[in-house]
This record gives sequence, structure tokens and C-alpha cells, in this order.
Amino acid sequence: MIKARESVEQLAPYVAPLEGRRPMLRLDFNENILGPSSKVVEAIRQMPAQLYATYPEYEGLTQAYAGSLAIDANWVGAFNGADAAIRALFDAYGEAGSPFLCAVPSFGYYLPCAQQQGMAIEEVPYAADLSYPLAEIGQRLQEGPRLFFICNPNNPTTTLIAPQTIVDLARSAPDTLVVVDEIYAGFTGQSVVPLLAELDNVVVLRSLSKMAGMAALRMGFAVGHPTIIDRMTRVTGPYDINALAVAASFAALEDKDYIRCYVEQVAAAKSWTQEQFDQLGVRYMSQGGNYMLVWPPGDCQGVVQGLRERGILVRSMAGKPVIDGSFRLTVGPLEQMRQFMAAFQAIV
Ligand SMILES: Cc1ncc(COP(=O)(O)O)c(C=O)c1O
Repeated sequence: MIKARESVEQLAPYVAPLEGRRPMLRLDFNENILGPSSKVVEAIRQMPAQLYATYPEYEGLTQAYAGSLAIDANWVGAFNGADAAIRALFDAYGEAGSPFLCAVPSFGYYLPCAQQQGMAIEEVPYAADLSYPLAEIGQRLQEGPRLFFICNPNNPTTTLIAPQTIVDLARSAPDTLVVVDEIYAGFTGQSVVPLLAELDNVVVLRSLSKMAGMAALRMGFAVGHPTIIDRMTRVTGPYDINALAVAASFAALEDKDYIRCYVEQVAAAKSWTQEQFDQLGVRYMSQGGNYMLVWPPGDCQGVVQGLRERGILVRSMAGKPVIDGSFRLTVGPLEQMRQFMAAFQAIV
């Protein structure tokens, strides 16, 4: 059998348990529970059949996204989900043997990408109270790693740090490409995007998967200096984004009210859920994002399994550094959180 590259032979497959979820209440992958705006669905329905047979056109899409952020279009690249933007960053910048720096636990796809490139992985654990390990990261940055990823708010810890702090880190490490994963920033309103103008070593990742409810369509964006966007685009296929996603994205970007309304619903449901946990004396962490980390009393795996038996999925964090014994709970609208809470109380 012909062997793949050595770094690929060594790689454990990245497995997300995504099968058989559809009939369940899906509070495990931070998706939008209600689905996208009806205008998104209508935009796909309206697509003439001929367009299915034609390679997709992207004209105007990056302009539309850039317009929503009030920046120039050449500062934006569109990708097949933020995952594809992450992959492109490693392909373009992740040289074998060069250091990749990240605080852990964080989003699970960074590590396999770094391993695949054969990078030297430097992981710094979050503090026991899940605050960001700023001092140690600051120190490590002085050694000039090739790539530094920061997820803000962080998935799964919810930890939120001030955009200015990230900019200060980036300024202290001009030879490091700083990747700020802001997939959930729409739920916090805090972003480094308005501070990007004078930085040529920072790139921000965004997505329409979560707030806009388009996870199945796969649309992500990178925002940063035009040279970074150009290098990411060089390592990406010419038709990576399909025409349905393009049509849907225009509609999603136009329907700002829908997204604002969903964000408000999640914020209200999150406050309610926090109050319930407070009353029960259950530990949780919920700084940013449409998700919380919850430490149930007793055996976490048993609680996760009990919820599953009642048709509710949450994501167990068993075995992860610092957050072992917790599960991640996606926050959807109030009705779904009431359903979750009734099942949770029955179990604990
Ligand atoms: C922190 C983070 N980054 C990136 C992604 C991937 O987003 P997308 O669906 O746009 O590929 C996710 C998805 O869960 C995520 O949590």
C-alpha cells in the first residue's frame, strides 16, 4: 500500500459525532436551533435549474460581506465554512517544524491541521478558573511562533477576552500570524475587526453557520490584510463554495433583523438558564457565545446519556484538559431551554 505523507500516517482522524442527530433536540454543536431566515430558504428555492449546471459565480459576495463590516472588499475572503479557511491558513503558512501556539482546550480542528503540516505544537492550558493564560501566551509569543490561534469567545470554555488585548498580543509578535476565530463574536458584539486597519499579521475568521443558521450550507469568511487573503485564496480550489451557499448567503446578509432577533432570543434564554442553574447550585461557565459549560452533580457521562435517552443531545467534555467532568450546552430559544431544564432536573 502506498503510504501518505508521514504526518498524515501519524494523524488520528478528526471525528465529530454528527450522525443520527436530526430527530433529537440538538444542543451539542452550537447550531442555530430554529434554522435560517425564511428569505434564505426562498433564495435557494428561486434558483433556476440552469444554475445547478453552471459553475458558481462569487461576484459581489465578498463585497456584500465586507459591506456588512464596513471594510474594503479586498480585506475579505469567502471559504467553504470557517473550517476551510482554517485549512487554508495551515496550508499557506504552516511550515513543517515551525511552532503552532494555542491555548487549550479550544476548537478541535486546529490541532489536526497543525499535525498534518508537521508543525511543532505548543499548547498552553487555560487556568483552572478558565481565564485566558495571557502571561504565558505573551511570553511564548516573544519566541515568534509561525502561527498563533485564539478563539474569542473560546469554544468550549466560553472565555472572552477584550479585542484590544488580542491586538496588543499581535503587536508584540510581528513575525507571527495571529488568527482570531470569531465564529461566535456575533453573540457578544466584541470583535477585533474594527481594530484591524493597521495590522498586517492578524486574520479574523467568521461564519454563517451559527447565528445565521446555515451550518449545512458551509459559508465562512476570513477578514484581514489583502496579502493574507490572497495567500489563503492561492491554496483554495476555484469552486470550493457551491452556488446554493452563495445565493443563501446574500439573503442571510440582507436579513439583518432575523439575525438580531435570534441573538436577542439566545441572550434572553441564556439569562433564564443561568438563573435555573444558580437555583440548583450547579456550576457553569457562560462568558460568551451561544453555549455554556455545565458541571452536573455526580457522573457527567451518566447525565449526558440520560439526556440522550430523553431525546436531548449535549457535548460531553470527558477527558479534555481543565474541563473534564463538564458538558457543553448549546443555548437556543427559551422553549428549547425549558425542555432541556425539565429533563436535566429529572436526571439530577
Ligand atoms: C470555534 C469554531 N471555529 C470554527 C468552526 C467551524 O465553522 P464552520 O461551520 O463555518 O466551518 C466552529 C464550528 O463549530 C467553531 O466552533
